[in-house]
Amino acid sequence: MLVLGINGSPRKKSNSGFLLSTFLEEAEKLGARTHVVDVNSQNILPCRELIVCEKKGFCPIDDDMKTEVYSLLREADVVVPATPIFFYNATAQLKALIDRSQTLWARKSRLNLSDPKSKIRRGFYLSVAATRGKQLFEGLDLTMKYFFDAVDARHDGGLTYRGVEHSGDMEKHPTMKDDIRDTVNTLVGPLAKRKKIVFGGHQDACRSQMAAAFTNYLAGDQIDAERGGSKPAQRIHPLVGAVMREKGIDMAFHQPRSLNPATKADRIIQFTGGSEDPTPTGNEEVWEIPPPSEEDPDTLRRVRDDIDQRVQSLLASID
Ligand SMILES: Cc1cc2nc3c(=O)[nH]c(=O)nc-3n(C[C@H](O)[C@H](O)[C@H](O)COP(=O)(O)O)c2cc1C
Repeated sequence: MLVLGINGSPRKKSNSGFLLSTFLEEAEKLGARTHVVDVNSQNILPCRELIVCEKKGFCPIDDDMKTEVYSLLREADVVVPATPIFFYNATAQLKALIDRSQTLWARKSRLNLSDPKSKIRRGFYLSVAATRGKQLFEGLDLTMKYFFDAVDARHDGGLTYRGVEHSGDMEKHPTMKDDIRDTVNTLVGPLAKRKKIVFGGHQDACRSQMAAAFTNYLAGDQIDAERGGSKPAQRIHPLVGAVMREKGIDMAFHQPRSLNPATKADRIIQFTGGSEDPTPTGNEEVWEIPPPSEEDPDTLRRVRDDIDQRVQSLLASID
């Protein structure tokens, strides 16, 4: 399970950054993996409304959204933006990321593709501001509502703090740590308690990708599906996106990862049948499905359907 923090503050030792790191530390205590996108140090350009995403499902702007952030947004189970209020909304740096999430909205709403984690992902925001007005966070809340919709995250609310101006103010706040711990237990706790299935293979480019995607798509927020390879490829198999798209499942921005051999899980599935597949240690269930060749979509379709059936049986066997 990945909890993705997005720090929107441009200043060092920021209040927002402190809130975010406190949140992520609590999530790690529950077993989550965490990652922070620090928007101020990333190369994230503003949207230019080129409309390519609405027609083709990708953004032609070549920056860190393309190389990193879209993938992280797709992998995240929980998305946590943290930002100071600048003129009644998020900082411009964070707003650039938010606007560029239009690509993910377009894939869903224009191309009718389903993100496999769309029934799992939660969104929760953290914010601070110097003044105390009643409407201080209303603009941000609306922006977050539509950002979370674009990235297929359920809007689970936010924690906001008024009267916070100077670096270090948040650290002195009397209830902040308790507020965050309670929030993380409520929000992340149920996701951390899910049964976990791990799919392992050689490159994490095809079979394990499809198996995890089907599991996420079919089981929703009931199962935590992880995957990885012993020697991850640079990118997923070029035809995987096309054959999964025939099933309405969107594999865009999915990246191969390595699998930590120490990862604990309720069920571990090991793909075998390829000459380079890792040898099972005896602790896994083995799915013998040789890796398909790059050029043949029909073979890949048969592999896809086999994995789909096996995932359905696997899920039916889990209480
Ligand atoms: C450009 C700018 C605009 C700001 N606009 C607001 C505002 O509209 N309302 C407010 O209460 N505080 C505003 N602030 C104050 C910040 O929200 C406040 O200093 C906050 O603690 C900064 O958080 P950080 O430490 O996470 O960066 C603004 C600050 C800056 C630099």
